[in-house]
Amino acid sequence: NPAGDLISQILQALDKSEPLVSADAFPAAPFVEIKAALDRLKSRDMVRYDTIERQEALLEPEGEEIAANGSHEARVFEAVQKAMEGLSVKELEETIGDKNVVKIGQGKAFKEKWISKTKDGKFKAIAESIKDVTRGQLETIKTTRTHPNAKTLADLKKRKLIRMQKVISFRIHKGDKFALEIPDEATDLTADMIASGSWKTATFKPYNFKALGAAQMAGALHPLNKVRAELRSIFFEMGFEEMPTNKFVESGFWNFDALFVPQQHPARDLQDTFYIADPPLADKPRAESPDDKKDYEAYWNHTKAVHQDGEFGSIGYRYPWSGDESLRLVLRTHTTAVSASMLHKLAAVEGPDGRPPPARYFSIDRVFRNESVDATHLAEFHQVEGVIADYNLSMGELMEFMDIFFGKMGITGLMYKPAYNPYTEPSMEIFSYHAGLGKIVEIGNSGMFRPEVLETMGLPKDMRVFGFGLSLERPTMIKYGISNIRELLGHKVDLNFVQNSPAVQFGGKA
Ligand code: PHE
Repeated sequence: NPAGDLISQILQALDKSEPLVSADAFPAAPFVEIKAALDRLKSRDMVRYDTIERQEALLEPEGEEIAANGSHEARVFEAVQKAMEGLSVKELEETIGDKNVVKIGQGKAFKEKWISKTKDGKFKAIAESIKDVTRGQLETIKTTRTHPNAKTLADLKKRKLIRMQKVISFRIHKGDKFALEIPDEATDLTADMIASGSWKTATFKPYNFKALGAAQMAGALHPLNKVRAELRSIFFEMGFEEMPTNKFVESGFWNFDALFVPQQHPARDLQDTFYIADPPLADKPRAESPDDKKDYEAYWNHTKAVHQDGEFGSIGYRYPWSGDESLRLVLRTHTTAVSASMLHKLAAVEGPDGRPPPARYFSIDRVFRNESVDATHLAEFHQVEGVIADYNLSMGELMEFMDIFFGKMGITGLMYKPAYNPYTEPSMEIFSYHAGLGKIVEIGNSGMFRPEVLETMGLPKDMRVFGFGLSLERPTMIKYGISNIRELLGHKVDLNFVQNSPAVQFGGKA
């Protein structure tokens, strides 16, 4: 057990000298292992330690060589001294076996007055004996990793014989429960220990309150569902009621006609809308619960009349409206189909003053559009929709509402751009600067529902209805830093990503 060995080495060494500096006592032990061993001992109060940082000197390869064989000048001197007759350059090179050592070493040996040259050009020793100072210094550094003389360190460094390195080590003291070994530790208090009384002298293993629990293999919510949960709570806290969006298939009537979308509108075209072939036609709009006393037939006819001839200050579209067209079944292209039927029902509700009461509806559910699929678009996505009905609502109030709503998602500094929806006037696309992406991004579509929509349903003239829609995918992708929608939906989704994605909480940066 190497970890146990290190622990007992530390305890032994600390018993002999205190404080102990880890880099001196265990120069070869890896930092992490020393730290782990010390932490184990510290948790049992057997040692205390603090971290120290210091510069250590390490030999460069050339420094290593000098420490082993001597400096160039010393090697030249020794070779020359041994040869009674002196040595020529060539002979010296042969003896030492390294031209470079000879070249540098003889120059220095001259300077030190260790050798001289005879008339016939040979080197001769003139000193009796020499002291190889550099070698001595390097030997000291090799063992102590430093040198008492700072100037020596600087010199050797300049000569590229050593380099300095920052080293973190530990200054270790004995702790209150210092001992030469870790005592046997009990992890549990057992009935036997109580019965025998051995608990009195037992050492218990300290609890590690920082230990992480084992990961649980449990179900996980999809990231879209996590963002949806957060958005739902924002809607609920702002007084919204959730709309029933459990029908993916709608009639063209609710998806388009009730919303004053003309039957020739490009959005109804096969390019954007998935039509259902079977059954070929929907039932006419009708009450779906016994308490719904509205006259759907009248509403159907009224819608036709408003499309064809207009009313409520509108001249209509002036085309022959087709009942069959409105009964074609579609995969709903927006949840506004549901908003339309909710508003139609609201018109029949009698509030305290006999008129429809103000209302706030929302939904977050799936919609379908026959668009080309790319990295950020699928043929289906989730729409987040909000609708506010109240008397004499103004645009200013609505913009304030949007500030509060998006502010809760961490989106601020909203900007509006005039847009077009057949069912709203004015219509506004909503934008915001996204700091993470470094650009202005579109975050939603909105508008005030037209009188052709609302008054046909029977809502009072002075009741204004504001609506807005955004996708759930967009904020989710931004939140989780996903750039390709296929990482979020479809067969390429990494289940580990789903398992490990943290819950979201808006309110920070979106
Ligand atoms: N239906 C719109 C869309 O799909 C969103 C919207 C809803 C706009 C309500 C205005 C009013 O983008």
